[in-house]
Amino acid sequence: MPIVNRISALHEEVTAWRRDLHEHPELQFDVHRTAGIVADKLKEFGCDEVVTGIGRTGVVGLIKGARSGSGKVIGLRADMDALPLEEISGKPYASKTSGRMHACGHDGHTAMLLGAAKYLAETRNFDGTVAVIFQPAEEGGGGGREMVNDGMMDRFGIQEVYGMHNTPGLPVGAFAIRPGPLLAAADRIRIEVEGKGGHAAQPHNAIDTILVASQIVANVQSIVSRNVDPLDNAVVSICAFNAGFTDNVIPQTATLLGTVRTLTPEVRDRVEARLQAIVEGTAALFGATARLHYYRDYPITRNTPEYVGFAGDAAAAVVGDAAVERNTTPIMAGEDFSFMLEARPGAFIFIGQGDTPACHHPAYDFNDEILPIGMSYWAKLVESRLAT
Ligand code: NI
Repeated sequence: MPIVNRISALHEEVTAWRRDLHEHPELQFDVHRTAGIVADKLKEFGCDEVVTGIGRTGVVGLIKGARSGSGKVIGLRADMDALPLEEISGKPYASKTSGRMHACGHDGHTAMLLGAAKYLAETRNFDGTVAVIFQPAEEGGGGGREMVNDGMMDRFGIQEVYGMHNTPGLPVGAFAIRPGPLLAAADRIRIEVEGKGGHAAQPHNAIDTILVASQIVANVQSIVSRNVDPLDNAVVSICAFNAGFTDNVIPQTATLLGTVRTLTPEVRDRVEARLQAIVEGTAALFGATARLHYYRDYPITRNTPEYVGFAGDAAAAVVGDAAVERNTTPIMAGEDFSFMLEARPGAFIFIGQGDTPACHHPAYDFNDEILPIGMSYWAKLVESRLAT
């Protein structure tokens, strides 16, 4: 496997960084220690510019190539935040903070991009500028959105962006990517149902909010099966049902929480419209009322087809063409990198993490074996997109 030699030599050092980050997980935008380490290291590597506080706690480092005639600027992005989870990995470098852990491998993503930055700042074997982007709050906080809204793309003149995520179950030394939608739009729904509270023994004098809300839960499940083209994809999941306090009172109100995942704007609009009609119509059928609050959260992570070729070729330069799946199946999870891909063309790629517990599982741990593979991918991508 043609791992860049200088990068192989960094493996031990980058592993130590990764494990230190793993021991000290931070949540959402409160990634002060992590962002501090990132900024200090980028300065130590000799980055031409290091800017902190973008999108609250994001960090961007600029590395200029030995030549800059091309005027091109490409962005490489890693995420820094952990999850509110109790770690059971049993590793010597397991989380030192109860109730928090790096269960999605963002410690590995950060370490890999730092390692690549060290290599790129040392070698500068490219024509143009690389912006290494470290974002907070990928796990539901919209840190990528905040960095884009903070003007990051224009401020640094970034013309194209790339992201990478580890994937348990995909073999070590493999990559997977696809043109178009790779991850789903992730929207949140909140349904407030109001019936008429009353005595449980006199249901005829009440409007049973629990029955109405239950019918809504059942009826919204017709959307995917009956309103979405069978060849399209969508998920509607109701994940919280809150109502009532005791066994002899029909409650006045109920609240449902859930998520909607879609891969095209058309299906997204369709599901929202059907939810609206079913929620209100079902409640009306029973003489109750219900309100749908639909929050469009993360957009579809849509890879620009031409740039998928660039990313796939860079991966193939590291692991060989046969180990790069270029038309992989999309997944219905959401990804904050979608905001960056809405602002600029680019591509998001999956890197094989081997046979490990799934992301967000309490026994998950990033596989340090893949650090040099990911770092080499970043190096090859820069040296091919900004070839001298
Ligand atoms: Ni993740």
